Amino acid sequence: MSSGFGGAGVFNPASPSSHDSTVALVVRDYIPPGARVLDIGGTARGFKARAVLPAGASITIVNPEPGVGADVADISQLPLTEPPFHLAMLFGVMMYIPREALVALLGTAKQRLRAGGVLLVAEPDPEGFVGAAEVWLKRIFTPHKTFHHYSAAEAREMLRGVGFTRFQDRPDLRPKYRQPPYYILAAGF
Ligand SMILES: C[S@@+](CC[C@H](N)C(=O)[O-])C[C@H]1O[C@@H](n2cnc3c(N)ncnc32)[C@H](O)[C@@H]1O
Repeated sequence: MSSGFGGAGVFNPASPSSHDSTVALVVRDYIPPGARVLDIGGTARGFKARAVLPAGASITIVNPEPGVGADVADISQLPLTEPPFHLAMLFGVMMYIPREALVALLGTAKQRLRAGGVLLVAEPDPEGFVGAAEVWLKRIFTPHKTFHHYSAAEAREMLRGVGFTRFQDRPDLRPKYRQPPYYILAAGF
């Protein structure tokens, strides 16, 4: 699957990966020394380039997009012999994935987390005035592309369905004043 972003650093200025300050908060709260981090749909010039990681921490990028500096194209290509991850991130990715494939991806991400691990989801919120306008603008200006808009409630339902049991809303990880508004959810189990 290719989304045609051509390897740009960060694709959406409202993603937590787009600002040093929000990246620093993610590092502070979810990436201890030695942690292994999975950036699903990430890029080498996005979160990874901005993050000042504690000693021994590392980031693995999963992305089918050519030219973004991914370690593997598909999450299923990560060797099962590798140690599990402390944190998996899915920032601005769900909208490109149909529900069935997304549920499978969320389930695989959970399997790759260690006990106590967290999946951090950030996604444009299709609800509310700005979110609804963004959905319509995408339909009008990119009619050749299919987007899958998931509300925060739908995201929680899918995450629950694959075994996540604990949720925390993290609106503070949203870059200030950037549009469209994202919802940000930390899911644990
Ligand atoms: C809008 S970009 C978000 C990039 C980055 N996470 C950020 O915060 O800016 C969406 C990315 O998701 C990737 N993507 C789409 N489907 C994916 C999948 N099944 N697994 C991993 N990455 C995927 C696309 O290739 C694209 O690079």
